[in-house]
Amino acid sequence: MAQANELVLYCSVQEEWCRLMGESFQRESGINVLMTRRSSGETYAQLKAEEGQPRGDVWWGGTGDPHLQAAEEGLTAAYESPMLAELQDWAVSQAEASGFRTVGIYAGALGYGFNTELVDDPAPACWSDLLDERFRDDIQVANPNSSGTAYTLLATLVQIMGEDEAFEFLGQLDENISQYTQSGAAPIRNAATGETAIGIVFMHDAVAQAVTGAPITAVAPCEGTGYEIGSMSLVEGGPNPENARLFYDWALSPEAQALGAEANSFQVPSNRNAPVPPESPSLDQITLIDYDFVTYGASDTRQNLLSRWDAEIGAQR
Ligand code: G6P
Repeated sequence: MAQANELVLYCSVQEEWCRLMGESFQRESGINVLMTRRSSGETYAQLKAEEGQPRGDVWWGGTGDPHLQAAEEGLTAAYESPMLAELQDWAVSQAEASGFRTVGIYAGALGYGFNTELVDDPAPACWSDLLDERFRDDIQVANPNSSGTAYTLLATLVQIMGEDEAFEFLGQLDENISQYTQSGAAPIRNAATGETAIGIVFMHDAVAQAVTGAPITAVAPCEGTGYEIGSMSLVEGGPNPENARLFYDWALSPEAQALGAEANSFQVPSNRNAPVPPESPSLDQITLIDYDFVTYGASDTRQNLLSRWDAEIGAQR
């Protein structure tokens, strides 16, 4: 069956960047792009729901853990792009860990941002500062079921503290949380408008607010922090596999990766020849943990941590 002149793109970064990627590829290739934006955990769940009758072709963006889970469950297809040779080691490791069913497209460190008009001195600097009672009902973070950002927080705390201690911490933090949002970056948009004082997000999402003039300061927590390898996968059995591979190779090019900064997105790109935006939080100046993507992207680990979060944190709401 001949494929249509179409590409169904599932996108898990910010809407503005998703649109720019879809429009730019459509202009260059003449292929019609049908794009939908959903958070990382939601897109994983959609692929799972569509297993056997997939409607999407490419899943572009979003945190790497649910991409790894989809790979393990055979929801995504192996592909060794000729562009792999141009990528940073961390992006290639992501591909190797998944049997080439996913690949790194960008990286970014987790942290938080606060509204300088709402937070008095001393400014928070650590994860532990978020438990301060002066922030009662004044912090937001996403729900880790829908959001890859929030799952990165969960996995990061478990790796820093140990699992029981991390859930203890999250239980105390819950006292200060006004809302668990659906999408990962929503908390910092809400901090920018003053709806909340603090948003737990990737640091580049806090920077994106600051560069547009919002009174937001980005924090790299003092205990160390986790990071994401934002990823891309081809959907197994998707309707337009050739177009999907064209998109995949293009999305790994320096030109396509340079579009992020144009869309106010300041992740570190995975192609070694792509320009790193000057606004990008520089990863070598942040205390990063040695995030174990293989363990925390494994189906069992992710399911277990999310069930425990539902039982101990989500269900108490
Ligand atoms: C934002 C960040 C991305 C991240 C994504 C995850 O868009 O800029 O770096 O991959 O959030 O989204 P989610 O809604 O799944 O947390």
